[in-house]
Amino acid sequence: MIKIRVPGKIHLVGEHSVVYGEPAIIAALDRHVSVEIRTASAIFINGKEFDIDETKRFSQRIEELWQRCMKNCDFSELSSIMKSDNNFIRASAGYMLDSLQPEEGVKIDIKSDIPRGAGMGSSAAISVAIVASFSSLFKNEFNRQKINSAAFELERFLHGTPSGGDNSACCFGGFLWFRKGENSIEMKNLGTKDSGIFDNFIVANTGIPKLSTCELVQNVRRTDPSIRDPVIKDLGKITSLMKEALEEGDSKRIVNLINRTWDNLSKLGLSTPNADSLISKIRKAGGAAKLCGACGGGTLLAYHEDVDMIRKLVNEAGYQPARIKLGVEGVTTETVSP
Ligand code: PMV
Repeated sequence: MIKIRVPGKIHLVGEHSVVYGEPAIIAALDRHVSVEIRTASAIFINGKEFDIDETKRFSQRIEELWQRCMKNCDFSELSSIMKSDNNFIRASAGYMLDSLQPEEGVKIDIKSDIPRGAGMGSSAAISVAIVASFSSLFKNEFNRQKINSAAFELERFLHGTPSGGDNSACCFGGFLWFRKGENSIEMKNLGTKDSGIFDNFIVANTGIPKLSTCELVQNVRRTDPSIRDPVIKDLGKITSLMKEALEEGDSKRIVNLINRTWDNLSKLGLSTPNADSLISKIRKAGGAAKLCGACGGGTLLAYHEDVDMIRKLVNEAGYQPARIKLGVEGVTTETVSP
């Protein structure tokens, strides 16, 4: 039996603009998807049985649907089919069966403490976990570059037109400087001034967004370019400035840049009234906050030199603040005797 563990991710900056070729800074974080996989006579996903050939056919149908959606620039149908988690896992399993052509099926058990659809890369971590578990089991191969490429293909099923940033962060871990179409670069020299800046971040789940990542990305794509394009450009600039601020451990600039990021994301209609109200309180207290990932709810990332102060504000707003460890290791594997 093989065990795979994959971290979630969080965008420090650059969500959405990364889809348009701007850079993003994405950190792997200490929430994980864990998978156990072994060979079996059919496909068992968390105890539910599926026929092997039917699983492959399902995946092929999803691939055809993706091609159609891409041609029509409308991913609504794909998004609605993928709202059931099992459908995504089933299509992903079918994709791996098709690509590896094993003679047996699998029993795959998936557990996750990454909140679903909340901007923490739950689906990217599942994609990476499925690819890593199938290739470890059937090919005895664990190559992060290859895992990442195939995980990107699976991400399309859920996200339509992913940038590839999420799966890269979950696969390689650490802090990534990511730009679509380029190899991601691990940022090893962050917080070099021993500033402890990464202890000053907390997260809170503001509630599962009503729309999926696929729908939110599509909405941004349909936003009037005269509003969207300057926002995307500025987010790109912010990412470069954030790199310097993080490397120098410059708290004041980090605060300004997170807040400028949020102003931009809000202009794209990615805010919610509850998040806005909490973020404005955090700002008044000298801190910074933004929603993360596709937005419209989900994970709030907040920063303050006095972390206890924002904890209190988050609590008072009715949410549960949580510490996070950023820059954790990417996908890992372990073979366990049956
Ligand atoms: O909400 P998440 O965790 O799926 O993140 C989406 C990030 C986007 O930049 C909005 C999309 C992408 O493919 O990079």
